[in-house]
Amino acid sequence: MTEQFLAPALRPDEDELDRSLRPRNLDDFVGQERVKEQLDIALQAARARAEPLDHVLLVGPPGLGKTSLAYIVREELGVGIRCVAGPALERKGDMASILTALEPRDVLFVDEIHRLSSAVEEVLYPALEDFRLDIVVGQGHAARTLTLEVPPFTLVGATTRTGLLTTPLRDRFGMTFRLEYYEPEELSFIVRRSAGILGVEIADEAADEIASRSRGTPRVSNRILRRVRDVAEVRHEGVVTAEVAAEALELLEVDGHGLERTDRALLLAIVDRFDGGPVGLSTLAVALGEEPDTIEDVYEPYLLQLGFIQRTPRGRVVTKLGREHVGAAKRAEALF
Ligand SMILES: Nc1ncnc2c1ncn2[C@@H]1O[C@H](COP(=O)(O)OP(=O)(O)OP(=O)(O)O)[C@@H](O)[C@H]1O
Ligand SMILES: [Mg+2]
Repeated sequence: MTEQFLAPALRPDEDELDRSLRPRNLDDFVGQERVKEQLDIALQAARARAEPLDHVLLVGPPGLGKTSLAYIVREELGVGIRCVAGPALERKGDMASILTALEPRDVLFVDEIHRLSSAVEEVLYPALEDFRLDIVVGQGHAARTLTLEVPPFTLVGATTRTGLLTTPLRDRFGMTFRLEYYEPEELSFIVRRSAGILGVEIADEAADEIASRSRGTPRVSNRILRRVRDVAEVRHEGVVTAEVAAEALELLEVDGHGLERTDRALLLAIVDRFDGGPVGLSTLAVALGEEPDTIEDVYEPYLLQLGFIQRTPRGRVVTKLGREHVGAAKRAEALF
């Protein structure tokens, strides 16, 4: 199996890596300057007034720092945090018990918030607006609504796409921040910082090379760095020079644009099997043996950003640029 550098941590050691390299405060958080500036003002104002921060929605492709920012908000406010994944909350009672257990000004971080069930979402509405819970007890004629107070708290929601959120939920966020793909210089900085934390000696050109092949994503930079470190330690003296980085990246099958095997498979499938497109998402998903959601949230955003594919009303199309990339990849493979 080829490694996926982009997917959220599945293995406990990757999870540990994400955590150890996670920026702890706003100053450590590289890039996203506008987001940081606005968040910083809101945080300072909330602190000065000793009020909870307005509810925050974080939107962006995987690995750009949404979870990191949620923890930073907690850190900067000096409060507690409770983390849950949207799909994990099944019943209204799950949400109700979490809300009533919060301390004043705590952060409630709901990851994949677009996947909350509508019943659970409804419990959240009055809690977000008026810090109260409406609970129906009893049935039929005997049914009564009990109102419970919830401590004033801050909801930080994370989602890969705003379009997936219901309008009433989206409207209840005071701030929405969209995270953008990072610039190579920013990623290079992150690579060097991470190398420092991991105790790896790395040349600037090597950091630049890893950065330029990280598809704009800090998580990918950190994961690649770790694999590159393995190559440096096993085959060389442990120092990551430009040559070692290039060798490792070739071994990992990460190409010059940062595309991995799965990305190339996606492009190839559209070109070879569907004549360049348009092909519908579900058909493409079957052809690749992937979930449609994974294709849409994980693989497509960067291919779109590169201009290699387009989403049209009739389906996905590989562009001229995308075709050229596939052609080059095929020629390269034919050489081996
Ligand atoms: N701005 C940043 N500066 C430094 N490191 C960062 C930054 N953003 C992300 N990282 C690094 O990338 C890793 C992944 O980030 P994070 O888990 O916050 O992404 P995410 O947006 O929550 O991803 P997902 O959508 O998959 O949950 C972090 O552990 C951290 O090491
Ligand atoms: Mg996350």
